[in-house]
Amino acid sequence: RIPLLIDTDPGVDDALALLMAFNDPRHEVVGLTIAAGNVGLAHTVANALKICDVVGADVPVFAGCASPLLHPAVDAAYVHGQDGLGDVGHAPSQRQAESEHAALAILRLSHQYAGQLLLVALGPLTNLAVALKLDPSLPSRIARLVVMGGAVTGHGNMTAHAEFNIAFDPEAAHIVLSAFAHFELVDWEATISHGLPHGEVLRWLDADSPRAKFFEAISRKTREWSADRRGDDWYAADALAMAHALEPESALDVARRVLVVETEGRHTRGATVVDWRVEQSDAGGNASILLRYDRPRFQRRVQAALAAT
Ligand code: BDR
Ligand code: CA
Repeated sequence: RIPLLIDTDPGVDDALALLMAFNDPRHEVVGLTIAAGNVGLAHTVANALKICDVVGADVPVFAGCASPLLHPAVDAAYVHGQDGLGDVGHAPSQRQAESEHAALAILRLSHQYAGQLLLVALGPLTNLAVALKLDPSLPSRIARLVVMGGAVTGHGNMTAHAEFNIAFDPEAAHIVLSAFAHFELVDWEATISHGLPHGEVLRWLDADSPRAKFFEAISRKTREWSADRRGDDWYAADALAMAHALEPESALDVARRVLVVETEGRHTRGATVVDWRVEQSDAGGNASILLRYDRPRFQRRVQAALAAT
């Protein structure tokens, strides 16, 4: 099985992505490294442990950086709930996070699984940036890096031009995305064009499984928030990124382009700037940007992850 390391800030759509990862027979989750992002680190760590309990996975959870590299955090509790998982008052997990820092765990696991590791980043890139500063040779040991983040034609969700994971810590995103010669990106615009229809989601959540019941509860508020503002589809960014990570052969259109992160723009800080000029990418860009994914396969994978027992 392919070793899978997930850096994440759970988060409702992170939770769905984790259910998908734990339900995939071709991959083995070897660790969860936790970022601050959607909510503060104490909550994102507790949420990761809780999700492991729900699926019965005894996977190590490593707490990472509590704030962005330079600027104060601006979270997304208004989308995910004050506790990051819909404020439903779950009993916390009895398990604890490991004592090793997430950045050190990333480096250690990159040695343990050198050349094989699938690294999926579903939150701000702070932990990965710190790992890279500690050891710039990290990319040479990673088989694939899949990142949920960015807005490749400039339609952000955090600001007009910036997507949340990049906008939360643009310096970290710059460090990571300029250090990897190649990475795969699932951005906010791909998320919008692969929304999950609310009606279908409701049907899947009706499954008689603890995972569906858990997810129905934690996602209720954010689904309502989204339905009020965004219409018929629920945008599950991290779930799409995980589908692409687990099953890249179901991507229908991917563009390889040069991508950089804007760290200074007055209106565009945190934007992912893509050079769409084909002639600039002849030598191959650093980013393989997902444009189109097999939607029925994505939806079936989400459904299966919720129904699993
Ligand atoms: C990203 O931001 C977070 O709120 C989600 O969990 C996802 O990772 C979408 O912009
Ligand atoms: Ca996330």
